[in-house]
Amino acid sequence: MNSKQLQLDKIKEQILKDKVCPELAKTATQLVFGDGNTNADLVFIGEAPGKNEDLQGKPFVGAAGKFLDTMLDTIELKREDVYITNIVKYRPPNNRDPLPDEKSVFLPYLRAQLEVIKPKLVVTLGRHSMNCFLPDLQISQVHGEPKQYQGFVYLPLFHPAAALYNGGMRQTLLDDFAKIPEILKFIDKQ
Ligand code: URA
Repeated sequence: MNSKQLQLDKIKEQILKDKVCPELAKTATQLVFGDGNTNADLVFIGEAPGKNEDLQGKPFVGAAGKFLDTMLDTIELKREDVYITNIVKYRPPNNRDPLPDEKSVFLPYLRAQLEVIKPKLVVTLGRHSMNCFLPDLQISQVHGEPKQYQGFVYLPLFHPAAALYNGGMRQTLLDDFAKIPEILKFIDKQ
């Protein structure tokens, strides 16, 4: 096992040891920590696990995840090439929005995940994820624009679940997604 994987396993164990969010842990099936390539250039961060993720223990494996896979395909990437996680690591009951406290208690562990993986680009999916790192921005105004903040470059995108059944938003998300390769090339040149 590579050393990044070992470090990530330690962060996961720490979440369990620290008993983060015991209320959510009680109603969830399991912790959904993150999945994918620990040496990835790209990390995707969603909100919180839904029903399928809670059952399978992996992020983005339901309808939104299938759409994410389709979008990755358009830029010739596979799930195995990227790392995918969420801010909140337990499923909120009935898929309600994560509460501010729930997001803030998980944030140090999410930051630690990023410090281990050290991706070139962090893609935030939806406003909850974006606002954890870029608190004062409106997603409707900044989606698709890379932002540098505290050592990482972030690309705020709409959430695939929100865009799934909204034609206009879906196209905007696909257009924003298509910018990823050129953003990565630009970062490489810096
Ligand atoms: N939506 C999210 O934000 N995360 C998941 O893992 C699945 C759906």
